[in-house]
Amino acid sequence: MRQRNCSSCIWCCGNSSSCFLVLLSLLAFALLSFSSSADAFSHVQIGGNGGRLSDAEVLFIKRRQLLYYLDENGDRGESVTVDPSLVFENPRLRSAYIALQAWKQAILSDPQNLTANWVGSGVCNYTGVFCAPALDDPSIQTVAGIDLNHGDIAGYLPEELGLLTDLGIFHINSNRFCGTVPKKFKNLKVLFELDLSNNRFAGKFPYVVLSLPKLIYLDIRFNEFEGTVPPELFDKPLDAIFINHNRFAFEIPDNFGNSPVSVIVLANNKFHGCVPASLGNMTNLNEIILMNNGLRSCLPPEIGLLKNVTVFDVSYNGLMGPLPDTIGGMLSLEQLNVAHNMLSGSIPKSICNLPRLENFTYSYNFFTGEPPQCLAVPEFDDRRNCLAK
Ligand SMILES: *[C@@H]1O[C@H](CO)[C@@H](O)[C@H](O)[C@H]1NC(C)=O
Ligand SMILES: *[C@@H]1O[C@H](CO)[C@@H](O)[C@H](O)[C@H]1NC(C)=O
Ligand SMILES: *[C@@H]1O[C@H](CO)[C@@H](O)[C@H](O)[C@H]1NC(C)=O
Ligand SMILES: *[C@@H]1O[C@H](CO)[C@@H](O)[C@H](O)[C@H]1NC(C)=O
Ligand SMILES: *[C@@H]1O[C@H](CO)[C@@H](O)[C@H](O)[C@H]1NC(C)=O
Repeated sequence: MRQRNCSSCIWCCGNSSSCFLVLLSLLAFALLSFSSSADAFSHVQIGGNGGRLSDAEVLFIKRRQLLYYLDENGDRGESVTVDPSLVFENPRLRSAYIALQAWKQAILSDPQNLTANWVGSGVCNYTGVFCAPALDDPSIQTVAGIDLNHGDIAGYLPEELGLLTDLGIFHINSNRFCGTVPKKFKNLKVLFELDLSNNRFAGKFPYVVLSLPKLIYLDIRFNEFEGTVPPELFDKPLDAIFINHNRFAFEIPDNFGNSPVSVIVLANNKFHGCVPASLGNMTNLNEIILMNNGLRSCLPPEIGLLKNVTVFDVSYNGLMGPLPDTIGGMLSLEQLNVAHNMLSGSIPKSICNLPRLENFTYSYNFFTGEPPQCLAVPEFDDRRNCLAK
């Protein structure tokens, strides 16, 4: 058993003011809100070949209406044909039909045949599609939810999904969707739950989520998103943020503490810099998991204000300095994990006295002292420190 090199315990606590001023330049970057009308979805395209059409072609054109979509960037969506013989209960279900048929065309593999019955005007009967009375007009049914969780479907999300303007819930976790999140998602003004987790989305943070006024649950974990995370995310009235297991590289901004979330998981990205003191302002917080990033600072004493937090995990970072005595004020704390950092000093007795503490993991640090109360915590792990045994 190799003892850790305790001479490297002389980290001092960084001056947190040096961590400010970093992300202000990003403020101008967010809110890519193009203002365009939904009309872009329904360009009527009839023929294109002058007078060279056969009678059969003319008949075909008369019987069908080709609807296709060009967005403000001139990008073409899928080309969806609406057979005029189809009867829809209302125009919004007709739009939903276009959206879902476009999506079906954008699906490359559907091993469980979940979309096999996505045929015809009865969109409310499609697998994974749920209808409910429209919020603004309870006399009509509209598509209110999509749930294709664990579908193993490969494909991408077409811009036409922006036609599902009554959508409240969009759950597609554990599929193989790739590409980016359509900008037209900005039309989903009543969407409150967005779960894109465990897919293959890539590229920048999906800024379009910032323009969803009713969003309260954002789950984009286990994807390939990269780059920074817009600070505006923490000013949104979200209850849950899961962005763990991506490739975000980012310093946690000072407005982090403005977030009213009860659960936030940033684990397994490349977040770096400081744990901001504003954390202490997160009065609704219940669980926070910052593990396995590159945070290098001390833990601000303000975290002691988090009276309702039950799970606090900052393991596998580069945190330094002592554990603040104020952690003894986190009266709801059950799970505390500070393992695999460069923390030092003596563990404050107040922490191990916390009434609900079940599991305190502080292995792989440079702690030099632990009061006997810590050895009485139901589960504790003090391995690999600078403790005299
Ligand atoms: C899906 O449909 C294909 C073709 O009809 C069929 O071969 C396959 O067994 C179906 N898969 C499932 C899971 O039903
Ligand atoms: C949906 O399914 C129900 C029950 O199978 C059926 O009665 C109804 O006609 C279907 N609706 C449409 C629009 O296809
Ligand atoms: C916490 O919130 C208060 C009131 O909004 C604010 O004045 C203070 O600066 C915040 N604290 C931190 C550390 O951000
Ligand atoms: C903790 O939760 C209770 C309700 O469960 C609430 O009344 C109280 O304000 C919360 N405390 C803090 C510090 O947020
Ligand atoms: C205690 O927490 C550590 C770190 O999160 C975890 O690995 C361990 O399984 C937990 N122990 C129990 C008994 O839950």
